[in-house]
Amino acid sequence: MIKLVKARDYKDMSRKAANIISAQVILKPDSVLGLATGSTPIGTYQTLQHWCEKGDLDFFHVKTVNLDEYVGLDGKHDQSYRYFMNQNLFNHVNIVPANTHVPDGSNLDAEAECERYHEVIESMGGIDLQLLGIGNNGHIGFNEPCEEFPVNTHKVELTRSTIEANSRLFDSIDDVPRYAYTMGIGEIMGAKTILILASGKAKAPIIKELLEGPVTPHVPASILKMHSNVILIADEDARSLLTIE
Ligand code: F6R
Repeated sequence: MIKLVKARDYKDMSRKAANIISAQVILKPDSVLGLATGSTPIGTYQTLQHWCEKGDLDFFHVKTVNLDEYVGLDGKHDQSYRYFMNQNLFNHVNIVPANTHVPDGSNLDAEAECERYHEVIESMGGIDLQLLGIGNNGHIGFNEPCEEFPVNTHKVELTRSTIEANSRLFDSIDDVPRYAYTMGIGEIMGAKTILILASGKAKAPIIKELLEGPVTPHVPASILKMHSNVILIADEDARSLLTIE
C-alpha cells in the first residue's frame, strides 16, 4: 500500500519530506537513513541542513547508506554520488563522516564491492527510512526495468533513457558512465519505512503507472505497492495525470 501525500509544488514536497525524515531522527536518534541523489531530494536536504544549523535537528548518531554510485568515478569526481552527498548534505550537518556510506565507484571489482556494500547494510541492522526518487522509466536506485527484480547490491548497465536523463549534468553524453552499483530491490524493500518523492510534469506518466498500473519488474518502483509502509509525496504536476484522487 502506498500512502499518497499531496504537495503543492517542489518546495512544499521538500518541506513535507524533511518533516518526515526529521521526525524519524527525533524518534530514533541513531536511525539508519537510506539516501538518494538526483534533483528531487536537493530541496529536502537543504531544509534538513537549515534545521540542523538552527539546532532543531541532530545528525550526530545518524548513519546513512546511499542507494547507488557510478562505476569508474571516485568520490572526488564532481559527478560522483559521494561528491553530491558531501556537497548537498554531509558537509553541512553534524553527521560523522565515517557513518556515511556510498558504494565505492573506484572499486572496479564488482563482485567484491557489491558484497562489501551488502555487508555494510546488514551490519547496520537494515534501513529505518529509505528516501527514493523515481526515474522516468520507473527505476529506483539504478534498478532499471528488467525481467526479474534484483535482490541485493549489484552492478547494472544503465539504459539509454537514464544515460540521456543524466547527461544534463555532464559536459557531454559520452562522459556519462555506462555502469553503476546499486542497492537491490530486496535491500530497498527491507527498509522499515520508504519515502518516495516526485515533482514536476515529467514524472506524471510514471506516477500514474506506479499508482494505477500492475506490479511488474518492467516498472521497478511498482514493487513498492507490496511494502506495508510506503509514503509517496507528489506535487500537483507529478499528480496531474492521475485518474484516482
Ligand atoms: C539517485 C537514484 C535515482 C534517482 C532517479 C530520479 O540516487 O537512485 O533513482 O532517484 O533517477 O532522479 P531525479 O531526482 O534527478 O529526477
